[in-house]
Amino acid sequence: MTTQVATLLSPDPHAVLDASHHPGDAEVGLFTFLDHSHQEMQRMLASLRELVRAIDADGLTPAVRARAREILAWFNTQARQHHLDEERHVFPALLASPDAEVSAVAQRLVQDHGWLEEDWIEIAPALASAADGYQWFDLDVLRHSVEVFDQLYVDHILLEESLAYPEARALIPASDLQAMGLEMARRRALREHAGNR
Ligand SMILES: [Fe+2]
Ligand SMILES: [Fe+2]
Repeated sequence: MTTQVATLLSPDPHAVLDASHHPGDAEVGLFTFLDHSHQEMQRMLASLRELVRAIDADGLTPAVRARAREILAWFNTQARQHHLDEERHVFPALLASPDAEVSAVAQRLVQDHGWLEEDWIEIAPALASAADGYQWFDLDVLRHSVEVFDQLYVDHILLEESLAYPEARALIPASDLQAMGLEMARRRALREHAGNR
């Protein structure tokens, strides 16, 4: 039995506890989930680039507005949750590594999250405006901000997948991976619950 992403992040504790009986599966599940998040992130970045082209070509059509709303919601929630996943569960082991190169990479990745958040805060109001059908923003400024955001994200994901994740897989004990998966599932379930109130 393999631990699927849906099981790992299920708010159903029985499903998660069942997965915890298979420590090897938990490892596969955790890093598979993080890899899936990166794939989704790259799809949303492509969608963001396409959005800028579509605003330029078509203006704020209903389809363009719906796309803007979807991208806004995704980066406001899923991208931030992914950064938290890494900051709580992947980076600490790397920051504590005696290998100076590994800890320096982790410091750079933490810094990147700060820069990405700053870039996003510049982009988000324009997307919210586009979603509501108002184009008060300067499209050239938005295009430039998206290019900077996109390039930093692509470099960041490449560094994580080529160095940080493989190092973390080697450093994090399998027994810790289960607790990490539970924390990630609980955080999302709590957030969803709070959002539904
Ligand atoms: Fe990251
Ligand atoms: Fe990441």
